[in-house]
Amino acid sequence: MIISTDDHVLVTGASGFVGTRVVRCLLDRGFRRVRCLVRPSSDRGRLEKAIAGDSPNGQVELVPGNLLSRSNCEQITRDVSVIYHLAAGTGSKSFADAYLNSVVTTRNLIEASLQHGCLRRFVNTSSFAVYSNRNNPWGRLLDETAPMEDQSGTRAEAYCYAKVKQDELVIEYSRTRGVHYVLMRPGVVFGPGKNSISGRIGTDTFGLFLHLGGGNPIPLTYVENCAEAIVLAGLKPGVDGEVFNVVDDNLPTSRQFLRMYKRQVRSLRSIYVPHALSYLLCWLWERYSAWSQGQLPPVFTRREWTAYWKRTRYSNAKTRRMLGWVPRVPMDEALKRFFIDCREKPAT
Ligand SMILES: NC(=O)c1ccc[n+]([C@@H]2O[C@H](COP(=O)([O-])OP(=O)(O)OC[C@H]3O[C@@H](n4cnc5c(N)ncnc54)[C@H](OP(=O)(O)O)[C@@H]3O)[C@@H](O)[C@H]2O)c1
Repeated sequence: MIISTDDHVLVTGASGFVGTRVVRCLLDRGFRRVRCLVRPSSDRGRLEKAIAGDSPNGQVELVPGNLLSRSNCEQITRDVSVIYHLAAGTGSKSFADAYLNSVVTTRNLIEASLQHGCLRRFVNTSSFAVYSNRNNPWGRLLDETAPMEDQSGTRAEAYCYAKVKQDELVIEYSRTRGVHYVLMRPGVVFGPGKNSISGRIGTDTFGLFLHLGGGNPIPLTYVENCAEAIVLAGLKPGVDGEVFNVVDDNLPTSRQFLRMYKRQVRSLRSIYVPHALSYLLCWLWERYSAWSQGQLPPVFTRREWTAYWKRTRYSNAKTRRMLGWVPRVPMDEALKRFFIDCREKPAT
């Protein structure tokens, strides 16, 4: 390990879906100085449940704050050796909001930690959303060597735009200021506490589920497995500057996932939209949007189609090899836990 369990580690986005599991994983590994940044408006329930048994402000320090505040950033990065940066504008539809909460926040955090001069590694939680899959032939592997989306602004997806800019910023800080970083790119993180169906599988429209993807493997990673990969990325020696994709083994196809969901959670009226048709619809949407000068925003685009609905394979070989990660919860057990939670707490 590059640090000891007595060193300070910081988790941003600590009350979020993945962040709570990262905190739990650090505590299970014996870390005694885990600082959690929580926005004052955040729902702390999930985090408090995750750390139950470990004394808040003993092993775990819950610090209220916002990464948009430079003084909050200065305060939380003091003495910190490893930063696990998970906070992001995940639900933002507007580009400005996504940029503020993913990019400006990341800049503030890195700038503040540079002032203290004790940071050993910055683990940036990125996403599969940053990849461009455009030139990857149908059915081929998408791994860490895939290029990033070079026209993230035209993909009409604020989240993708902000995550690309966030990664670029971290790489730039490494080049110009010597920040040691690792980029973690999870696929679709799933598990109890997030009960929606990924858009890669389809979308609900007026009571009819449009099933997309068909036989495409879905790059799922169970939330606890994903959190463990992120934690390892902050600890392993010799991985500075590396990118790691996080996907589990035995990925179900979109069709298999939907079938299991219908059987185990609820019946759903669905209709399959073949690949050629979904591509054509994206193209038509894009054309109409351009022709109408944005009267209809370009919500569906061909770039988005290639990122989410083109047949692609995924691998976790590099993450296993270099981080020594294994997805501990097997896919069948992970899906079982997820479906039970969906049954008990239906998505709103
Ligand atoms: N979930 C996925 O499928 C997935 C896939 C790939 C990558 N990722 C990445 O993994 C990370 C965690 O995702 P998640 O699913 O856990 O998201 P999440 O549940 O939405 O958590 C994001 C957290 O960031 C916090 N946050 C947002 N803006 C902030 C700010 N200005 N200052 C301080 N905190 C702020 C939020 O606080 P509030 O609680 O106050 O809103 C929230 O706790 C993100 O970077 C995301 O891009 C997620």
